[in-house]
Amino acid sequence: MSDPILEVSNLTRRFGGLVAVNDVSFVLKPGEIVGLIGPNGAGKTTLFNLLTGIYAPSSGEIALHGKSSAGLKPHKIAARGMTKTFQNVALFMDSSVLDNVVTGGLLKNSLPEARKKAHAILERVGLAHIADTKAGDLSFPERARIEVARALCTEPDILLLDEVMAALTPAEMEDVITLVRSLRDEGITFVVVEHHMKAVMKLCERLLVLNFGELIADGTPEEIAQNDRVIEAYLGSSFAKNRKTETSEVSA
Ligand SMILES: Nc1ncnc2c1ncn2[C@@H]1O[C@H](COP(=O)(O)OP(=O)(O)OP(=O)(O)O)[C@@H](O)[C@H]1O
Ligand SMILES: [Mg+2]
Repeated sequence: MSDPILEVSNLTRRFGGLVAVNDVSFVLKPGEIVGLIGPNGAGKTTLFNLLTGIYAPSSGEIALHGKSSAGLKPHKIAARGMTKTFQNVALFMDSSVLDNVVTGGLLKNSLPEARKKAHAILERVGLAHIADTKAGDLSFPERARIEVARALCTEPDILLLDEVMAALTPAEMEDVITLVRSLRDEGITFVVVEHHMKAVMKLCERLLVLNFGELIADGTPEEIAQNDRVIEAYLGSSFAKNRKTETSEVSA
C-alpha cells in the first residue's frame, strides 16, 4: 500500500455562526480520482479553499506529502504540489489565454520555461488555436478549460477541479474525462467537484459526500448510489432507480 498523498483530519471552518466544513476527515492515495459531491452550499468549495490555503481552517489538520500544510498561503501549498481551479473562473480577462496559463508556470520556472510549458499544455488540452485570444472574449466552458490549463502549468501532484464540466456538452465532458484519466496515468491525483452525476459516476473511482459541511459518506460510486443518507440528502430516490438501467455513457 502506498503512503497517503493527503491526510485531512477533523477539518472545520466556521463563518460566524455557520459551520461550512464540519469535522471532515479523509485520506487520498496517490493516483486516485475522487469525486466530492453534495447539495449546493454543502461546503465543497470551502473544503477546496481550506486545502489550498485560500482560507485557514478554524481547527483540524491537513498533511500534504506527510507534512502539515494547514494555514500555509496558497502559493506555498501550490509549490508543494496541490492547487485548484476556481468555480467562478478567476482569469485575467484582458490578458491572452497563453499569458493566463504562463502565470501558473511562473511558480516553478523562469519566464521562457513557463512559456514553453504553457504552449505544451495548451496543445494538450486542445486550446492551442486560441492561445492569443483574450480570455475575456471566450465562452464560460472555454474559460473553465483555461483554468485547468493554468492549474496544470503549476505542475501539481494533486489537482482539485471545481465544476470544470459545468455547461459542457456531453461530447466536451467525454473529452475532460479522457484528459483527467490520462493525466492521472501520468501521476496526478484528482479531487473533482461536479453536479453532473453521470459524469461523476463515470470518471471517479471513489466518492466523498458532503451535506451541511459534514462528510456523510465515503465509498465507491456503486456504494454511494445505494447509500440511503446520500439518496435522501442529494441524489433523490429516482436516481437510485434509474441507475440500474443506465449505460456508462455520459450523454445517456
Ligand atoms: N467567505 C464566506 N463567508 C461566509 N460564508 C461563506 C463563505 N464562503 C462560503 N460560505 C458559506 O459556506 C457554505 C458552504 O459554501 P460552499 O461555497 O463551500 O458550498 P458548495 O458545496 O461549494 O456549493 P455549490 O455546489 O453551490 O458550489 C454556504 O452556506 C456558503 O454561503
Ligand atoms: Mg462550490
